[in-house]
Amino acid sequence: MYIRPRRNRKNAVIRAMVEETRLGVEHLIYPIFLQDGTNIKSEIKSLPNNFRWSLDKLLPEIDSCIQLGLKQFVLFPAVEERLKDKHATYSYASDNFYLEVIRQLKQEFPEIVLMSDVAMDPYSSDGHDGLVENGQIVNDPTLPILAKMAVAQAQAGIDIVGPSDMMDGRVGFIREALDASGYDQVSIMAYTAKYASAFYGPFRDALDSAPKSGDKKSYQMNPANKREALLEAQLDMEEGADMLMVKPALCYLDIIHMLKEFANVPITAYNVSGECAMVYAASQNGWLNYEATMSEMLLSIRRAGADGILSYFAKDFAQLMKK
Ligand code: PBG
Repeated sequence: MYIRPRRNRKNAVIRAMVEETRLGVEHLIYPIFLQDGTNIKSEIKSLPNNFRWSLDKLLPEIDSCIQLGLKQFVLFPAVEERLKDKHATYSYASDNFYLEVIRQLKQEFPEIVLMSDVAMDPYSSDGHDGLVENGQIVNDPTLPILAKMAVAQAQAGIDIVGPSDMMDGRVGFIREALDASGYDQVSIMAYTAKYASAFYGPFRDALDSAPKSGDKKSYQMNPANKREALLEAQLDMEEGADMLMVKPALCYLDIIHMLKEFANVPITAYNVSGECAMVYAASQNGWLNYEATMSEMLLSIRRAGADGILSYFAKDFAQLMKK
């Protein structure tokens, strides 16, 4: 036997030298759920150890993340039902608490990078990402609403907007609106290949944002499709996306890998709520080791080709790295 692959694994020093994939806190973006009010830190039942935060409680939490080297956050608003309407007008209202949180966080912690979600569902009385007319999710009339939302977030100081609605043409529409308002430095991370997945359950619990009727299959992609992601990627790049996202991550590692080969912009992946909930549940039962499984998951997403990863594990991973 001349070739013995185990020689390159014989001790920790050699293993470290030949390690192909690196994962650090700099690759992670931490999702945070926000709620209006004060003194709120309410746990999300289906996503243990994740909370809806009011701004006052969130400030020290962000500070503790920064101490761990975790400096990128994606923010999602839990909006009261009475503020929701068909046109998601609260999403760009001047007294919107989400926009206020963005302003305050950027003022308090200028070094952090904040990313938003641009979609109607948290603000829509229909619970859909686009405008509903006669039971249909209509595409083009949704675009100006998304553009207003993105410009309002840019005004508040957001660094990256994340259109997550899968309407056609939204990246270009938002890019034009941002540029026309003087925000050519605000980046767009496009949810390029976002699948109609069953793994978003805990997220919809967190925001109480599940569709009131129907499902999201007329805009989110069919989990059976791979080549279609190339078309979405091509369009998003042509329309000016700075980064392309694949979502969910774990069942879609092949899509991440393919887009990394195909695209010439960075690729990110969203390790979504249901993927993390599985690990929390199994580890609470003593069936899996939490730290080892979550690290392996994040590493596999990087290995598949993701430059950045949005994950509820971000803070725990950062803590683990500090140890
Ligand atoms: C909605 C949105 C969803 C998520 C992020 N943005 C849910 C959906 O499409 O219904 C899911 C994220 C997660 O499950 O962690 N615009």
